Amino acid sequence: MISLTLVQGSYIVAALLFIAALAGLSRHESARMGNRYGIFGMAIALVFTVAAAVIGVNGLGDANDRSGSGLTGFALIVAAMAIGGAIGIWRARRVEMTGMPELIAMLHSFVGLAAVLVGWNSSYETDVPYPAIHDAEVFIGVFIGAVTFTGSIVAYLKLSGRIKSAPMMLPAHNAVNLGIIVVSVVMTVVYVAMPHDDTMVRQSLLFAMTLLALFLGWHLVASIGGGDMPVVVSMLNSYSGWAAAAAGFLLSNDLLIITGALVGSSGAYLSYIMCQAMNRSFLSVIAGGFGVEAGTVSSDVDYGEHREISAEGAAELLSSARSVVITPGYGMAVAQAQYPVAELTRQLRDRGVDVRFGIHPVAGRLPGHMNVLLAEAKVPYDVVLEMDEINDDFPETDVVLVIGANDTVNPAAIDEPNSPIAGMPVLNVWDAKDVIVFKRSMATGYAGVQNPLFFKDNTQMLFGDAKERVEDILKAL
Ligand code: TAP
Repeated sequence: MISLTLVQGSYIVAALLFIAALAGLSRHESARMGNRYGIFGMAIALVFTVAAAVIGVNGLGDANDRSGSGLTGFALIVAAMAIGGAIGIWRARRVEMTGMPELIAMLHSFVGLAAVLVGWNSSYETDVPYPAIHDAEVFIGVFIGAVTFTGSIVAYLKLSGRIKSAPMMLPAHNAVNLGIIVVSVVMTVVYVAMPHDDTMVRQSLLFAMTLLALFLGWHLVASIGGGDMPVVVSMLNSYSGWAAAAAGFLLSNDLLIITGALVGSSGAYLSYIMCQAMNRSFLSVIAGGFGVEAGTVSSDVDYGEHREISAEGAAELLSSARSVVITPGYGMAVAQAQYPVAELTRQLRDRGVDVRFGIHPVAGRLPGHMNVLLAEAKVPYDVVLEMDEINDDFPETDVVLVIGANDTVNPAAIDEPNSPIAGMPVLNVWDAKDVIVFKRSMATGYAGVQNPLFFKDNTQMLFGDAKERVEDILKAL
């Protein structure tokens, strides 16, 4: 048997490593190190959890002694880890950077499903020391897990374009959400208060609540759409953390509780930061668009004619520029244009041009998506600025290169109060002397809104794949 003190000690070390990982991941420079801390912490957690499960735990009195599952248990755990690990490695190696958000949403759904299964499994346990607390843990764990499960599946379907990203607004959708939450609270109280020998009624209650929570998860995320999807991703991240913490309570695993709480609170904080950056109400978004009316997309507005430019023309503009700002978006990730963009940056800087990047907080499809791509292509961190740091500098900028960005540079967010992206702060690129937009067509961006920037007098469109067009400019320079 392994000593309980040793297991708990290893859990504390792992928890500290997870906290160090979060701290590391909060800055570009330390992100790789942060990842290593996280991997190391998880390795320690896995080794000691499996050891405790297989060879048993002793110490701190007989009540805390647990016998292990022995060789059969070990074989089953190794088999499950091998199958799960193989699928994980296969998916992670195949996924494109652009497919990461949907992969993450899918992984969140597994955490939710696991919490539901752990909760249901625990509902059959009868010899628990504190039955009322245990019952409340079962009910709450299953509720959070079920909401996370279906919510993440809808997010996966929306992010992968399998269903429309526009918000679905059922009549009285706020009342429906509120009603389900109130009914679930009442059912929790009844479940906890009910005598344990009334198994049939208790399981029926748990079943009914599971169905309600599955519906709520689907409905909450289906009601949020377009430009607010980034917040949903981080919100589900947070929910998955709370679901893991709930499972930790049921399995009496302290580390799972701590890790779940870390994920839950950091995800909630990230959602809050993103809501602030997008000028959205945090409460409204987590309540499935509470108090928000769906914006209208008007397709018949005539913005006039757009102008086009060739790669040679763009190279000429850049040759005479003194300051250039590059604002990348999702299209840069699709085209994998970060490498030629990094080379263009290097060449322009060698010629004495002041080149900087302006990163919108929700550019791309993941928090920090653009920063990761630019770091991968070795663009120096000190020229990569946040939206707030660069927005006032556009009037003094000679040329802005909008590389595959659309919603994040859309002036409709400011000028059109009925637009679905109204109120979202954007990069004010149109204030620069010249703007060159790299994209393949006049198609709309993620929120499905036309972009009046493309029709402004100082904007010129450079059509085609962003990577090929940047390479053409490099040749022409
Ligand atoms: P988007 O509005 O998504 O627009 C991307 C543009 O890239 C498209 O208009 C597309 O136009 C162009 N494009 C695609 N492939 C290209 C290629 N190979 N070469 C050149 N251009 C290409 O981009 P954004 O400005 O980054 O905005 C992000 C949007 O996603 C926001 O609405 C945001 O709310 C949402 N969102 C963000 C997140 C996070 S966390 N960042 C998560 C979910 C949703 P063409 O088809 O004409 O080429």
